[in-house]
Amino acid sequence: MECDVCVLGAGAAGLMAALTAGARGREVLVLDSSNKPGKKILMSGGGRCNFTNLDITPENYLSANPHFAKSALAGYSQWDFIALTQKHGIPYFEKTLGQLFCERSSRDILDMLLAECEAVGVRIRTQCRIERVMRADPARQTDGGFVLETSLGRVRAERLVVATGGLSIPKMGATGFGYALAEQFGLKLRPTRAALVPFVFDGPWRELCVRLAGVSLEVRASVEGAPSFDEAVLFSHRGLTGPAALQISSYWAPGMAIRLDMLPGQLLAERLRQLKQSAPKRTIRKILLELMPRKLTDALLEQLAPPKRARGLGEWSTGEIEHLASCLHSLALIPAGTEGYRTAEVTMGGVDTAGLCSKTMGVKGQPDLFFIGEVVDVTGHLGGYNFQWAWSSGVSAGQAA
Ligand code: FDA
Repeated sequence: MECDVCVLGAGAAGLMAALTAGARGREVLVLDSSNKPGKKILMSGGGRCNFTNLDITPENYLSANPHFAKSALAGYSQWDFIALTQKHGIPYFEKTLGQLFCERSSRDILDMLLAECEAVGVRIRTQCRIERVMRADPARQTDGGFVLETSLGRVRAERLVVATGGLSIPKMGATGFGYALAEQFGLKLRPTRAALVPFVFDGPWRELCVRLAGVSLEVRASVEGAPSFDEAVLFSHRGLTGPAALQISSYWAPGMAIRLDMLPGQLLAERLRQLKQSAPKRTIRKILLELMPRKLTDALLEQLAPPKRARGLGEWSTGEIEHLASCLHSLALIPAGTEGYRTAEVTMGGVDTAGLCSKTMGVKGQPDLFFIGEVVDVTGHLGGYNFQWAWSSGVSAGQAA
């Protein structure tokens, strides 16, 4: 097989790069080891693919170089992708916080990408094992095209785009192949870890989570040195999940405490001090039940205020009131870990952006080799940001390859 551009990985970024290069008249071949293209697109957003966000900014991305994503995001923005979905008549809606979801199913997004690929003659081959990738001319180590040995035969390509994703969800075909290839071609890697991933606990906090499994609450979640997120957490049999927990997992390192303001925007101490005067017989439990689910109120009071919880507020000292309020506004939990790549939505770290050109995603000094999507050290917040990175970086490479 011969082609101008060979794209490794038929996921979000690879398909976008392929259809962009194909539209420029390039002959494109996409190879994927999986049995179907776009598997993660299909499973994303609970089957409805949160395909972008109305409020994309570079601040929504984590990377060793926080400026790297700017050029690609500006070159192909959320508005460009929204226009593409509109061209295909895909119904969508804003769920919350600017997050756009398919009204019907994720299949609409994948079908759109495949239709665009087909229209420009992109060939897609699945169940293809890539055994070796070499420079076509060993004497020219920085250009001159590639030869790939694959289970479907030998492939010669002028340009190579690596879009094989990260390590999250190995069951869906995730492999570390892109990282190995980056190293083979002299690129550096930033350490990888699971991100947008639920926390697990042990000891008393684990027991608390088990007891509260199914309870959810809007909180303000944070970890030291990171922005805070006002979204929901959900207790589970293993620990803590829900959007706010997933968001801060991207900033968390083992041993760090996560902080939850269980009553964001409320001035609990002030409210309790006033009620101590005006309604001294009311119990703290009754007051908290107006603000939090019953199961959570009881469990937290048992943990934080054992002897006093059944007595009227009049019996609480100002110091005790302030202590309880500050615990509820800044509940510190130390997770035992995360659920890891098994359930993580994304992989942090990866191909060091220092070796890539931010305009084209091409490797510096090797203008025929490109890395895009999740394999690169750019990780978005939860809410459609990761797909937007896949689309934007895919278009950047597709325009240059
Ligand atoms: P992606 O992983 O999509 O594609 C990589 C492709 O490479 C795959 O097709 C794989 O089979 C192939 N491949 C791997 N190794 C190979 C090899 N050795 N040889 C050949 N091919 C190989 N994001 C978001 O913005 N909104 C959302 O709603 C969600 N929801 C969501 C849910 C779940 C459960 C997960 C796991 C993830 C999300 N995400 C998300 C994240 C999003 O799916 C992710 O950021 C993109 O899919 C990344 O796109 P890529 O194309 O880089 O990798």
